[in-house]
Amino acid sequence: MSSDARIDRAAQPRGPMTKNGSIATFVHDPELFELVSRCLNELPGVIKTGAPGIEPGDIEDAIAYLTRDPSPSVVLVDLTGVAEPLVALDRLADVCHSDTRVIALGDINDIHFYHNLIIAGVTEYFVKPVSEEQLRTALRSPPDAAAKSTSAAPVAGQRPIVVVGARGGVGATMVAVSLAWYSAEKDHQRTVLVDLDLSAGTVGMALDVEAGRGLADALATPERIDGLLVASATVKCSSHLFLLSSELALENRRTLADNAVPLLVAGLQQNFQRIVFDVPRSEPGLLAQGFEQAAFIVIVTDFSLAGMRDTLRLLKLAKKLAPGAKCLVVGNRFGVAKKGGVTVEACEKTLATKLAAVIREDPIVVPMALGIGKSVPESAPDSDAAAALYSLAVAVDCVAGTPEQGWFERVFSIAKTFVMAKGN
Ligand SMILES: Nc1ncnc2c1ncn2[C@@H]1O[C@H](COP(=O)(O)OP(=O)(O)OP(=O)(O)O)[C@@H](O)[C@H]1O
Ligand SMILES: [Mg+2]
Repeated sequence: MSSDARIDRAAQPRGPMTKNGSIATFVHDPELFELVSRCLNELPGVIKTGAPGIEPGDIEDAIAYLTRDPSPSVVLVDLTGVAEPLVALDRLADVCHSDTRVIALGDINDIHFYHNLIIAGVTEYFVKPVSEEQLRTALRSPPDAAAKSTSAAPVAGQRPIVVVGARGGVGATMVAVSLAWYSAEKDHQRTVLVDLDLSAGTVGMALDVEAGRGLADALATPERIDGLLVASATVKCSSHLFLLSSELALENRRTLADNAVPLLVAGLQQNFQRIVFDVPRSEPGLLAQGFEQAAFIVIVTDFSLAGMRDTLRLLKLAKKLAPGAKCLVVGNRFGVAKKGGVTVEACEKTLATKLAAVIREDPIVVPMALGIGKSVPESAPDSDAAAALYSLAVAVDCVAGTPEQGWFERVFSIAKTFVMAKGN
């Protein structure tokens, strides 16, 4: 499956949708079939379509049904025994409306598999056996992502996710681009990625988009910033992803008004549901104002001693300027230093925090993404780097899943339930 196909699917609704609240289930395991039927009977006001209560079904039945009929709000499908579940899901996604929540059940308990399911458009995946309570909750509650995907209204007051590199070249831009991509393409949020490195930023290059002067002009006259000005200065990268950047001449000297970034954020909030800042650590004014606006601060470091020192300094600054923001540290380019590199354990001990994600040096996947102007998760969705970036996206609330209990924990809590159930 090409990554282009994945994006098309996220951006374009396929086929008509039936009335809200309709559920179609395709389950063939007799025990599960009985459980699903019981849950559906207890759910008030749902329109049941497809197999439940009529006869058991599988993913091929689901594909045939969705080819023939309008998509329901929820499709529940049992992947047990399907030889190539991702290929089958790909075919299902081709005939299914993009706003339909696809809930999958199966017996494969593997992180990479789970990640690929989410990339393929599955909203939730449960490792069997699933409890009645889990199933009822999943069927009943349209998670935020589904509700959000149809809403174009910005979430008032949503503050930026600020990404900063502890040192030069540690991969901060790669991380910022990936988070914005997950937000736009997987969470279907109108997302703006702002490159606050006004003269040497590389976000435009990373996404293969021409930078304008828009951001520099806006920051130079912050009193003129409003929703309209911000909207006209952004460049559209896809239906949900927008870029705001500048390519100022290096000799261009500029001063930053105290209220420039807050006014920029206010303007952005009128147009976008999510804001991601790529902030240069070498511009104290922008760094400080960026931190003060942040909901999340993501510090990207390598595994060098200098990286540790500079991360500690940034953590201290973040604590001072943005006590309410959630700070996360990402260790990137793990394994690149032949000598003098710090281990993950030593890094966490030095920083007195657990790393939110560890991304290995990958001399193929990461440069390749940059080379073709795509984010890492888009160009290499099956890579370890994409899996690590996905867990980070969950932690900063960029994709569905609560930050308190991310996808990793969810899979393992389900696995734990499985082990406990087997033990009984
Ligand atoms: N995990 C990785 N494996 C291999 N190469 C990587 C990795 N992360 C980043 N790179 C490469 O390192 C270079 C710098 O990445 P990036 O521009 O994201 O860093 P940065 O911290 O934003 O740099 P700057 O300080 O210039 O803003 C790029 O060529 C990128 O492809
Ligand atoms: Mg950068």
